[in-house]
Amino acid sequence: MVVAKLMPMTDAFIPKNIIVTGGCGFIGSNFVHYVYNNHPDVHITVLDALTYAGNLENIKPILGDRVEFVHGNICDAQLLDELVPGHDAIVHYAAESHNDNSIANPEPFVKTNVEGTFRLLEAARKYDVRFHHISTDEVYGDLALDDPAKFTEETPYHPSSPYSSTKASSDMLVRAWHRTYGLRTTISNCSNNYGPYQHVEKFIPRQITNIIEGIRPKLYGDGLNVRDWIHTEDHSSAVWTILTTGRLGETYLIGANGERNNLTVLHDILRVMGQPEDAFDWVKDRPGHDRRYAIDSTKLQTELGWRPTHTDFESGLRQTVQWYIDNPQWWEPAKAATEAKYKAQGQ
Ligand code: NAD
Ligand code: DAU
Repeated sequence: MVVAKLMPMTDAFIPKNIIVTGGCGFIGSNFVHYVYNNHPDVHITVLDALTYAGNLENIKPILGDRVEFVHGNICDAQLLDELVPGHDAIVHYAAESHNDNSIANPEPFVKTNVEGTFRLLEAARKYDVRFHHISTDEVYGDLALDDPAKFTEETPYHPSSPYSSTKASSDMLVRAWHRTYGLRTTISNCSNNYGPYQHVEKFIPRQITNIIEGIRPKLYGDGLNVRDWIHTEDHSSAVWTILTTGRLGETYLIGANGERNNLTVLHDILRVMGQPEDAFDWVKDRPGHDRRYAIDSTKLQTELGWRPTHTDFESGLRQTVQWYIDNPQWWEPAKAATEAKYKAQGQ
């Protein structure tokens, strides 16, 4: 079979001095390491408010000449006025990111995800800075389990939770700032990430750290909800590809064909950790729980030539389990309070 070589139809951009918002969180800090390791000529300013989800330890080993940390809030327009000039790109990861928290208390989600994105867009407009917005597949709502379709860039927005509706709102702001003001923007909507440094409130780290602590894992509803898992390092390489070669004004979906239901993932975790298959509790479902997410990343792959490298989920999961076993000092401080919150919710 002859495979045609696809020529990139893109606006190449070589950043030298970038701001990464939320660079002390799970995915943002992975991107900071990715750029540090692969692009030695790029200076990175991490802007992070260090909320419960942010941890300076994530980037401490690389802080120095090439990676600078600024402790601040993306809603602080005065701080942005001081910080943004002189930078050539903003890569915007900062967000309130957990669905269950958004159901319990939506207000910080509106503040950070909507107002924070607005403030950053205004600063980017004022100082003519390239803007890449990190978003989620959840803006598209959910798919039925038997639907042959996956999400594409053309799927209509249909968010379900306070979290996903604020992310959808932020995407709309980015689109409007491109069309109305000509701001140089791109958006990426990625599926569920896994890997080291993920907060223990999230599904995979919660179950791994429960097992380490002798607590039974907790599965919502009937356990058949499907998520499309991607290793966070593949997310980082995709974002760099879009930032540097993506077409301005465009959206790219990021995914690695990793569809699995929650019960299967939990069985994988239990097996990898040497536990019986039924050593978990069924708990109350999440209100409005999305059934299935699935990403079609054809546009990113054919137009920009990106490919995922962590395509063996079980191997990535084993490495992730080992990381939590090896790094209790990183997650233990957050564990008890997180479990107390879940217990109060019946989960
Ligand atoms: P996270 O909760 O681990 O980290 C969020 C980071 O943002 C933290 O460091 C926090 O301190 C910082 N932050 C929060 N509010 C802030 C504010 N007002 N000002 C400055 N910093 C602030 O989140 P994550 O899972 O790493 O997600 C990062 C981004 O990726 C989010 O935009 C999220 O919507 C998106 N995303 C996540 C996933 C996933 O599977 N986790 C998938 C697709 C997209
Ligand atoms: O799809 C991308 C999204 O993935 C991101 O935008 C979000 O920031 C990120 O948090 C994630 O959202 P989910 O809600 O899919 O992830 P979470 O880890 O919270 O849950 C994954 C699935 O596992 C979901 O169907 C709910 C279920 N679950 C979760 C927890 C915490 C359980 O069954 N038990 C649990 O204890």
